Parts: sequence; structure tokens; C-alpha cells
Amino acid sequence: MGWRMRRCLLLILLVGAAVSAAEVPPKAAIASAHPLATAAGMKILRQGGNAFDAAVAVAAALAVVEPAGSGLGGGGFFLLHRAASGRAVMLDAREKAPLAAGRDMYLDGAGKVIARASIDGPLAAGIPGLPAALAYLAENHGRLPLSRTLAPAIRLAREGFEVGPGYLRQVARRLEVLRRYPQTAAIFLQNGDKPRPGFRLVQKDLAKVLEAIAAEGKAGFYRGWVAERLLDSVREGGGIWQARDLKRYRVVERRPVEGDFRGIHIVSAAPPSSGGVVLLETLNILSPYAMHTLAPVTLKHLVVEAWRRAYRDRALYLGDPDFVHIPLARLLSPDYAAGLRAAVRLDKALPSDYLNPAPEKAEGADTTHFSILDREGNRVAATLSVNYLFGSGFVAGGTGVLLNDEMDDFSIKPGTPNIYGLVGGEANAIAPGKRMLSSMTPTFLETRDRVAIVGTPGGSRIISMVTLAVLDFAAGFPPSLWVKWPRYHHQYLPDEIQFEPGALSAAERRTLQAMGHRLHPLASRYGNMQAILWDKKKGTVEAASDPRGEGASSVE
Ligand code: GLY
Repeated sequence: MGWRMRRCLLLILLVGAAVSAAEVPPKAAIASAHPLATAAGMKILRQGGNAFDAAVAVAAALAVVEPAGSGLGGGGFFLLHRAASGRAVMLDAREKAPLAAGRDMYLDGAGKVIARASIDGPLAAGIPGLPAALAYLAENHGRLPLSRTLAPAIRLAREGFEVGPGYLRQVARRLEVLRRYPQTAAIFLQNGDKPRPGFRLVQKDLAKVLEAIAAEGKAGFYRGWVAERLLDSVREGGGIWQARDLKRYRVVERRPVEGDFRGIHIVSAAPPSSGGVVLLETLNILSPYAMHTLAPVTLKHLVVEAWRRAYRDRALYLGDPDFVHIPLARLLSPDYAAGLRAAVRLDKALPSDYLNPAPEKAEGADTTHFSILDREGNRVAATLSVNYLFGSGFVAGGTGVLLNDEMDDFSIKPGTPNIYGLVGGEANAIAPGKRMLSSMTPTFLETRDRVAIVGTPGGSRIISMVTLAVLDFAAGFPPSLWVKWPRYHHQYLPDEIQFEPGALSAAERRTLQAMGHRLHPLASRYGNMQAILWDKKKGTVEAASDPRGEGASSVE
């Protein structure tokens, strides 16, 4: 080989090495809502698992150590990016309405909503999706068996762990319903009352259910002794689950929604979550404004005006895509956003009731999120839920499985507010086997040089929190600030800006009120964002857990 050829070859090799070095993260990272769940995921990565194996371990561990937020009795959405193909998919593990469910199942003979019927107890529970998702991830995306990836969660359930102050606060908020069911109280309370600091939460029955899934995969939950106990217990408690509900449950791989905002490619949750659609519609409305030249208060006003319009469309058009037609191309089109933007004024709020009326609804605030990046560049953003704190509060006897109350995410009755003071639309009416609308917004952000993985719990506020994280990412701030900065929110109805302490200065509050905004200061902070940033140019990986929660991030 001549020297010219050799030099050419060397050049090709060097360029190739530089490209692949730039495309592979120097470190792996996990951010989750609990240190024990982050540790479980890291352990699996160290054992040679990929991000999808780690996702199984983290999700299962969260089901044990953060039972108020998610669990085997719940569901959620896993956004997956496979480095080898460069493709993203959304694993839809959302709960489904039981086949015996009906549109008016939570109304009395006079058509009035039966108080709390869609919130407390087994009638409030949809058919869980998380166990099917764990098995699907292991079979289709992971490389380790469930016996390995579920081992940390099984040990945590069997041996127990000391709960933190967050658990004690959450129990206090749901004490009444946790006391109502003896099988629930026996696990989550201490002598029938609020546990004292230092309480060790041991879940031996849940460990056995996890072992059944580890041994038999999906069938370990949806068939056999676990299914029998779930069905017996739900029926005894007044629920309507049947064996065919469990047998027929399937997760679905869906195309995420995608869009671009100022050079950032955004990949996010598709329906039946409203998250990605509302996020992209908001960003499309904001896109042409020269944000860095605007006064901060004007920017906040514009963000609120964009949310007002995007959240309204959520209520009007969104539901389970297997049941209702969603005009996705229109909702995500920049031209449609331009039409919405045309009525936005820089100096004045538009009252929500000047827009065509649309019923609207938000979901429970007590979900969980985790983000994972592995050394191959695979990514997972997963937001999981049992809906309200501790879901329905009902543990199916002999399983330790706390059932969700995700049925409350359907429109129980168009125009009637749910537990969060919001009402729902026709596209999200209850139907047998239908998935209820969600706000969960697991999201990837990507520019030529940077990749971010982000999400949070927080009900309808999830989408506004992720919007603010996108704006912070666009402005070049690090994830430690996206997860920390005070937040503000608007969701069309109620027509008010809700804001955390410190989110709006006194001068900003005066200006916004003069523009016609109604302000609703919140006494407490909300959200529990878990974020990862891989800067390809700098060759760094950062991860951050929201200081509002007890989460932990790890980079190694
Ligand atoms: N239940 C929370 C959500 O789906 O948004």
C-alpha cells in the first residue's frame, strides 16, 4: 500500500474514531425519585445491563420504595431511544378501563357524580400496565433476564427499608383511605396509624408477586395465583375486574410525537398521553418570539398565553387514539400554532372563556419519573403512576399490590370537576378497554451537541414543568437549575396563574395583574423532576434530581 493510501486510511480511522467517541457518552447516568431505585438501576448497569434493563430495575424498585407514586398496580409511559438504530419508541403501559366499565359508571340514578367512587377503592382501578411493561422491556429491549433485573426490588420488598419523611407526609394525606382497608393498613401503617420516623416498610406479599413475574414474565401477574387473588379481592371490594381483562392486557409500542423548537429536536409522549402534544403546541406558539430580548415578565405572560391555548386543545381533542380520532397533524402544525398566536397580545391576557368553551381535566399529582442514559447512548425517560397518592388505597388481599385510581383520569361526567378541580371532555369519556388520558410527559431533547432526558410527576402541571425545562435547556442552563427553579403554571381552566413561592417577583405580579391575569399563589412547591444532560462537545454527563423530593442521581 502506498503512503498516500495509508495516510488516507489513517485519516478515515481517526475521523471514524472521533465521530464514534462523540456519539457515545463518557458516563452512564440515572436520576430517579428514590436513592434506592437509582442504586438498583446502577447495579444493573454495572452487571452489564443496558438502559432498558436498568429501567426494569428502577421501575420495580420504585414500586417498592415509593408506593404512593407508582407500582405494579399502576401503569405509565416509557420513552425509549435505541442508540444502535437512532430510533425512539414509546412503550404505552397505560392502564385500561375494565371491560365491564361504562360511560356513566360513577354517576347515580339522577346523573350526579358519586363522590369519590372514581378515587377510593377497587372500583376506581384500571387494569394495570406496569407488570406487562417490565416483561416487555426485558424480552424486547433488555439483555438480562428478569430474575436479575427484578432482584433488587424483590430484596427491598422482602427485607424492607426505612421510609423517609416524604413517605410519612404522603401517608398523612391519605390516612383515612389507608385505614379503611385492613390489608392496606397492615402493610403501610404502624398499628393502624401514621408510622413513626424510622418505620421499616416490609412487603413480603409484593416480593412474592415480583418473584412470580421474574419466573414467568407477564403471565406471572396476569394469570395464575396472582391473577386469581387480584380478581377475588377486587370483586369482594366492589370492583368489576374479570379474568379476561387481565388476560387481554397488552402494552403498545407507539410512535412518540416529535417536533422542533429553536434547533432542539423534541421527542415526547404520544396519546393517550396529552403530554407531548400540549408541549409541542405550546412551543410552536412560542417559537417566533425573540425571547432573549423580552422582559422576563413578558416572557412569562407569553408562556401562559401559549399554555392557555394548548391546554384547551388537550381537553377538546385528546383521548385514547385506539378509540377516538385525534387531529394530530393539525395540532402539531406550525401553521395551526400561527393561527393561535395571532390572537396573543403582548400586553394583555385573553380570558379563557373568550376562547370557545371546552371542558378540561387534569390528572393526579402523585406520579413518578426517572431518566436513564447508558454508556452505549441508549436512553429511557419513564413516567409511571398509580394516580392519586397511594392510588385507590386498596391492596388486593394476599398480593401486596396497591391498585391505582387511574379511572379518575377519564371524564367522569363532561363539565364536572375531578379531585383537582378540573373537568373532562368527550374524547376522554369512559369506554370498556379504553385507556384514560394522561399528562405524563417523558421527553428527550436533542441538538447537534446536547442530549437531555427529562420528566416529572405533577398531574396537569407535568406539561408546564417540562415546558419550562425546555426553555431552560434552550437558554443553555444546566439540569441542576431546571429541576430547582421556582415554577409557574396555567392550564386554561381554572383561568389563573398558579405559582410557587419565589416564581414571580412583586413587580411581576403587579404587571401580570395589570395585564388581566388572575394569580393564585401556592403555599407549597410541586413536581419532582429527574433530568440528565449529555454534552457531546464538552464530553460531560450531568444528572439532577429535584430538591423538592428525596430523589438521587448518579453518574459513573
Ligand atoms: N395520573 C397521572 C397522569 O396520567 O397524568
